Amino acid sequence: MLPEISTKVPEEKSFAMGRRLAEVECRNTTYLGDDWPIFWERAEGVNVWDVDGNRFLDMTSGFGVAALGYGFTGEALRGQSEVLMHAMGDVHPARVKVELCEALSEITFEKWTGEKGKCLFGNSGFEAVEAALKTAVVATGRSGILSFEGGYHGLGYGALLGAGIGWFREPFDGQLARVTERLKFPEDDLEGFREELSQVDGSGIGAVLVEPIQGRGGIVVPPEGFLKMLREWCDEVGAVLIFDEIYTGFWRTGKMFACEWEGVFPDLICLGKALSGGFPISVCVGKAEVMDKWPASNGEALHTSTFLGNPMGCAMALEAIRRYREPATEMMVNDAATKLKKALKSLDGLDFVKCVRGRGLMMGVVTDSGERVLEAVKSMLRAGVIALPDGPVGDVLALTPPFSVTEEEIAFAVEEMIRSLHRPLP
Ligand SMILES: Cc1ncc(COP(=O)(O)O)c(C=O)c1O
Repeated sequence: MLPEISTKVPEEKSFAMGRRLAEVECRNTTYLGDDWPIFWERAEGVNVWDVDGNRFLDMTSGFGVAALGYGFTGEALRGQSEVLMHAMGDVHPARVKVELCEALSEITFEKWTGEKGKCLFGNSGFEAVEAALKTAVVATGRSGILSFEGGYHGLGYGALLGAGIGWFREPFDGQLARVTERLKFPEDDLEGFREELSQVDGSGIGAVLVEPIQGRGGIVVPPEGFLKMLREWCDEVGAVLIFDEIYTGFWRTGKMFACEWEGVFPDLICLGKALSGGFPISVCVGKAEVMDKWPASNGEALHTSTFLGNPMGCAMALEAIRRYREPATEMMVNDAATKLKKALKSLDGLDFVKCVRGRGLMMGVVTDSGERVLEAVKSMLRAGVIALPDGPVGDVLALTPPFSVTEEEIAFAVEEMIRSLHRPLP
């Protein structure tokens, strides 16, 4: 549904929540300004309602989580929560954990190579990345990591090793091991990248960690052939290739996984966000021959956590995967992607728009400044459209709507975006 705004945004109840939060939450967490944020009360489909009763259109899918809209795995959650909310993940696991491992294997490595995939669960996305980085050490005996400028893999200490946006890493650099080599993520010049890669000494590198399309880094699509080049390099030097598809996975780019565009497959794939449609669960799925380098558990797992393979998360993920496998989902994504692309054509020729880039329902409008995007997303919010800046300096306005977004909703959001980007800067 289109937005319905009946107060100023944010309005008094949101401000009151902000004042309460300021007293009791770490001040670095939620940005509290005089024009941001709204506090959410409920959400359904593509819409979010705030505590002041306004209805918004969410063009972010809540950080890419609500792929098929808010609530699409709600029934699975309700059903599972009535019978089993928690199990002993790595000791006495829930039945649904087994079923989810099987489904994840089927949609990844079994589909790509005919061999089983094996799973290592986490809660948040960064934990899947950390599970993958540990797997690479176990499998290769090498601790070196090759990652990319602009890369975002979450903010846990392990994941920060791969971080390519410096300001997330720098305050904590003193506690991070010096194991990472970072290359520029190519936007077009594949031959230049080949040259740079050829200079890297692969002998100490155990893991190459990469997003097939950079999300938080500004919706950057690398040139065709990039992933294949990495695949060949890993095979040559004996490193493990990790695709972080936490953002791009589950149809976001128009294929079930972004790596399927090039038909290049990793040794390990990290998944989260849309995996469950709203429960904190993530997973590193790996080729059996790589995952089997982990020693068999003797009763003490080397990598686990209290909530590993939580049954509610597993049930929601199973339902999400069931929906993702329906042909209707692919059609819905590609139909909406075509409409979004067409609507974004109206940005052509605007002098403050450098380019529009992305794939599927992961699109970014690259502008001339972070300040312009920041002011635009605030203005869009006042009109009822939720959007976010991306890119290391915030100059990219990202649009990653739920797949069920309609032509009318897209038109509304894009018109509002253009109007907001046009506004003179304060
Ligand atoms: C590509 C990618 N990897 C990892 C993460 C981290 O996930 P989480 O915030 O759930 O830890 C994100 C989050 O935006 C992401 O986009």
